[in-house]
Amino acid sequence: MRVHVADHPLITHKITVLRDRTTPSPTFRALTEELVTLLAYEATRNVRVDVVTVETPVALAQGLAISSPRPLVVPILRAGLGMLEGMVKLVPTAEVGFLGMVRNEETLQPDIYAERLPDDLSNRQCFVLDPMLATGGSLIAAITYLFDRGAVDVTAVCLLGTPEGLAAVEKATQGREVTIVLGALDEKLNEFGYIVPGLGDAGDRLYGTV
Ligand code: PRP
Ligand code: URA
Repeated sequence: MRVHVADHPLITHKITVLRDRTTPSPTFRALTEELVTLLAYEATRNVRVDVVTVETPVALAQGLAISSPRPLVVPILRAGLGMLEGMVKLVPTAEVGFLGMVRNEETLQPDIYAERLPDDLSNRQCFVLDPMLATGGSLIAAITYLFDRGAVDVTAVCLLGTPEGLAAVEKATQGREVTIVLGALDEKLNEFGYIVPGLGDAGDRLYGTV
């Protein structure tokens, strides 16, 4: 598993504002979108491309074009939906599929309650969007689901993660092509499965359900 933790003052600045409990939902949503666009730059570093030739007004030029099948972007509902626009801004030709997951707050086990994905993901490169990698249970379930459908490599873009969550994802996805791109790696999980210091419940903060 490849892990990339962002190291850029602009990203840390935006995450600091997200962490602040007084930041209102409209600002939280706007910053989430901006952060994803910045993280998507790193997340797409290994996007599959073909070498192509175009004709400029002056000469022929060799360049790159995103390969077919197109990348599949999968926001994990609900909170991952807040990351979608930021991602497709950078990769507008990507296809988008949806996975609805909710974590049982007592057992911390994830449950898939909705799915709208292409049936066959053979040979697809997938980009999962979920702001929080806490215990890792939701991300493991999402990644496993995509690999079971035929995906060949999965990159997850998360705003915050924990050492415990990363270790769990690594253990569960041994031998698979998995990359995790994080805006920040936080200190730990608390006894309620929340990221510390974290930013609270990402879905609630995005959609004002507090
Ligand atoms: C949050 C978050 C992740 C999950 C992370 O979703 O968006 O999907 O928790 O926790 P885990 O790593 O311990 O599985 P939640 O279940 O609260 O649903 P929501 O997006 O609808 O708020
Ligand atoms: N889900 C969240 O939204 N926040 C956390 O800290 C953990 C899981």
